[in-house]
Amino acid sequence: MQKPKKIILDCDPGHDDAIAMILAASNPHIQLEAITTVAGNVELEKTTLNALRMCDILGLEDIPVARGAEQPLVREREIAPTIHGKTGLDGPIFPEVPKKAVVDQHAVDVIIEKVMASNDDIYLVPTGPLTNIALAIQKEPKIVEKIREVVLMGGGTFGNWTPTAEFNIYVDAEAADIVFKSGASVTMFGLDITHQTIASEAILKQISEIGNPVSHLVSELLIYFSKSYKQVFGFDGAPIHDACTIAYLIDDSIFDFEKVHVDIETEGNYTYGTTCVDRLHVTGREPNVKFAHQLDYERFWRLIVSALRGG
Ligand code: BDR
Ligand code: CA
Repeated sequence: MQKPKKIILDCDPGHDDAIAMILAASNPHIQLEAITTVAGNVELEKTTLNALRMCDILGLEDIPVARGAEQPLVREREIAPTIHGKTGLDGPIFPEVPKKAVVDQHAVDVIIEKVMASNDDIYLVPTGPLTNIALAIQKEPKIVEKIREVVLMGGGTFGNWTPTAEFNIYVDAEAADIVFKSGASVTMFGLDITHQTIASEAILKQISEIGNPVSHLVSELLIYFSKSYKQVFGFDGAPIHDACTIAYLIDDSIFDFEKVHVDIETEGNYTYGTTCVDRLHVTGREPNVKFAHQLDYERFWRLIVSALRGG
């Protein structure tokens, strides 16, 4: 078997972040080096609490969890309770106080330390706003050439927070701009791809029939998340956006990619936070992003369902 891929999951759980965690924790191809948290779907206090609760459930006693940025770099914070509820993980009932505690080090320093100590073989996997990653690049620019890939969920050729902007990029577009311009290898899972992952009724049924504690939790998460997506967007099910990043690291042949140039809009009256994806190469600019545009639905869900069955 190939060596497991070392990853730092930088997240804002979040229903789909939680499913990404489950997939990462259960797969032998992935070695979780750290989990870092950021304000996004809800405030930092709550995303951190949710990450710790998920670690308890998944038995990740030895994986450090570090708190990151409470605020975007420049703009006022925005959160998404309409999608993820007040707690950020509405649906299941969790024990009030998690057993696990955060480490006494800021997420940005954990990222820098792990990347600098690596043999250029570490993947950063942001599934929330890019604030921590941008701060790490600003504090220690040398990490850029040591990061194997930034595998992120964000952006797309349409929006879900404004007509043109996706939530993670919109919340901290200045941070996204730093990351996309940094020269790091960026693999992008935007809404074009993540909306192809909608959990159908048949998938929900398969998961509910597995009948172990983690599959039970995922059922509850997906029931709540699907209800939000029905109410807010009229969708027949919820896309599990963030899990695409981990699925790719486990098996990249599930996805099709194009090399494209992407710029981040940080001004714009109507377009703040838009990822300007040059799919037709009209700018003539060098591609800076590997852009996922197509996935194999059956294989994607087979991976998730078999992870929930225990392999
Ligand atoms: C992204 O925003 C959050 O609601 C999800 O967790 C995902 O990372 C989708 O736009
Ligand atoms: Ca997220």
